[in-house]
Amino acid sequence: MGLKRKIHELQKRREEVLQGGGEKAVQKQVSMGKLTARERIVALLDKGSFNEYDMFVEHEARDFDMDKKTLYGDGVIVGTGTIHGRPVAVFAQDFTVAGGSLGLMHSRKITKIMDHALKMRMPLIGINDSGGARIQEGVNSLAGYGEIFYRNTISSGVIPQISVILGPCAGGAVYSPALTDFVFVVDNISKMFITGPSVIKTVLGEDISMEDLGGANIHSTITGNAHFFAKNEKECFGQIQKLLSFIPWNNEEKSQKIASKPPRRDYKIEDIVPADPKLPYDVRDVIKAVVDDSDFFEIMEGWARNLVIGFGRMGGRTVGFVANQPIYLAGVLDVDSSDKAARFIRYCDAFNIPIITLVDLPGYLPGVDQEHAGVIRHGAKVLYAYSEATVPKMTVIIRKAYGGGYIAMSSRHLRADFVFAWPSAEIAVMGPEGAANIIFRKEISEAEDPEKMRKQKVKEYKNKFANPYVAAAKGYVDSVIEPGETRKLLLHAIEVSKNKVISVPKKKHGIPPF
Ligand code: HXC
Repeated sequence: MGLKRKIHELQKRREEVLQGGGEKAVQKQVSMGKLTARERIVALLDKGSFNEYDMFVEHEARDFDMDKKTLYGDGVIVGTGTIHGRPVAVFAQDFTVAGGSLGLMHSRKITKIMDHALKMRMPLIGINDSGGARIQEGVNSLAGYGEIFYRNTISSGVIPQISVILGPCAGGAVYSPALTDFVFVVDNISKMFITGPSVIKTVLGEDISMEDLGGANIHSTITGNAHFFAKNEKECFGQIQKLLSFIPWNNEEKSQKIASKPPRRDYKIEDIVPADPKLPYDVRDVIKAVVDDSDFFEIMEGWARNLVIGFGRMGGRTVGFVANQPIYLAGVLDVDSSDKAARFIRYCDAFNIPIITLVDLPGYLPGVDQEHAGVIRHGAKVLYAYSEATVPKMTVIIRKAYGGGYIAMSSRHLRADFVFAWPSAEIAVMGPEGAANIIFRKEISEAEDPEKMRKQKVKEYKNKFANPYVAAAKGYVDSVIEPGETRKLLLHAIEVSKNKVISVPKKKHGIPPF
C-alpha cells in the first residue's frame, strides 16, 4: 500500500472514531442541551490547540457480549492543549459511548494523561459525564477507579486539578472530582451522586429525581461539593479559563504577573462599613475596594455564605481572600464555613498564593446543632490551616474580632505576618453585652435600676476593650490604620514578604482534624 492510501486509511479510521456512540446517542446528548465531549474540549482550550492521544484504544472486555461491541475511544477523549497559551492536560468522557462508563482501557487512557500532567507539571482538567464503573467489566472497572483516585491524591498540591461535571455522574465518577481542587457544575446538566435514584428506590423504597438528589443547585448550596455554578456550558468554560488566569501552573511556580489597574472609584472604602457594629455590609465591596481592577473572583459563592473566599490581584499578582461576611449570620464561623476556609487556605499555601484575611465576626456559632455537627472538629481545621500555612499572611481587622474568632482568623498568634486594624476594630473575648452580663452580674442584679446599670457597664466594657488599641499596645496588631490606607499597606506588605522564609520541624506530614 502506498503512503497516500495509508493516509487515506488513517483518515477513515479517524472518522469512524469521531462518530462516538453514533447518531442516535449524539442526538440524545444534544437534545439535553449538552455539547459532545469533543465540542467541550474545543470550547475550553485555545483555538486549534488540542492534540488527541490514544484515539484508537479499544476495550478488551469479553463478558456479557462485550466482545461484540465496538466502543470508539472506549468512551473517553484525552489529550493536551493550551489555555492562555500555557499547556494543560485534559480528558472528556463521552456519554454517547456506553454512557461514558469507566472500563479498564478507559481508565488507562485517563491515568496516562494524569501521569503526563504530573510529570510535566501542568494543570489537569477532567470533564466528567459518566455512569461510573462499567458494570460489565467488574473488578477491572473498580481497579481503574482506584488507579485514578491514587493519582488524584499524589498530584494534589503539585498541579492544579479541575473537575467539570457535565452529565449524570455516579459512583466512582464523583469520587475522583471530590479529590480534586475545583469542581464546576452547570444548571440542569450536572448531577452527582454515589448511588442513583434507582438504587435508592430498590434499597430504601424512596422516589427521588436526579435533580433533587444531586443537581447543580444542591451541590452549590447544600453539600459544598461544587465550587463554581454556571448557567450553561459556555459560561462554565469561561469560568475555568478565568480561574486559570489566577492560579500558578504548579507548586513550584508563582502566579503570573498580569497588567492591572487600581480599584474602581465607585468602591469607596470609607463608605462601605457602617459605624454601628450591629449593621451589616457586604464584605465583597471591601475586597473590591482594595483589589486591582475591583476584580474579585469568588469561589463557592452559594455555600457557607457567612464566609467569602476567592482570588483577586494586588499589584498584578494573585492573592487569596478569606473574609467573614456580615450579611449572612453576622459572619460567624460554623461547621461549613470552617471547612470552606480551611481547604482554601491550604490551596493557597500549596500554590504559593499570599492570603489576605478580612475579619469581622462575633465568633463561632453557638448552639446544639453546631456542637453536634462537630463544630469543634471542623472549627479546628481553620486554626490548623492558618498555623500551617507558610505563604505571606496579611490580616485586616475591620470591626468585630471576638473570642475564638479573633484567634482563628489569621491572628498574629497563628503567625500572620502583618496584622492591621481599622479604628472601628473591637478585639475582645466576647461582645460587650455578653461580657457585661457575665462579669458585672452581681452589680447589675443588685442595682436599684438594673437596666440602667447594665447599660452603664456595657459602656464601661466597650470603652475599655472594644477598640484596637489594647491589642496594638501589646503588639498583637502592627498598625491601626485608616480604611483608605488599606490597599497601600497590603501592597507594601506583599512586596516586603515576597522572599519570606520560615522553618518548621521536619516531619512526614501533620494530622489535620479532617
Ligand atoms: C455500563 C452503563 C453504565 C454503567 C450507563 N450505562 N451507566 N453501562 N456501566 N455504569 C449505559 C446504559 O446501559 C446505556 O447503554 C447508556 O449507558 C446510557 O445510559 P442510560 O441509562 O440510557 O442514560 P440515562 O437515562 O441518562 O441515565 C444515566 C444514569 C444511569 C443515571 C447514569 O445510566 C445509571 O444509573 N447508570 C448506573 C449508575 C451506577 O450505579 N453506576 C455504578 C456506580 S458504582 P445503551 O447501550 O442502552 O445505550 C461505581 C463503583 C466505584 O462507580 C465506586 C468507587 C468509590
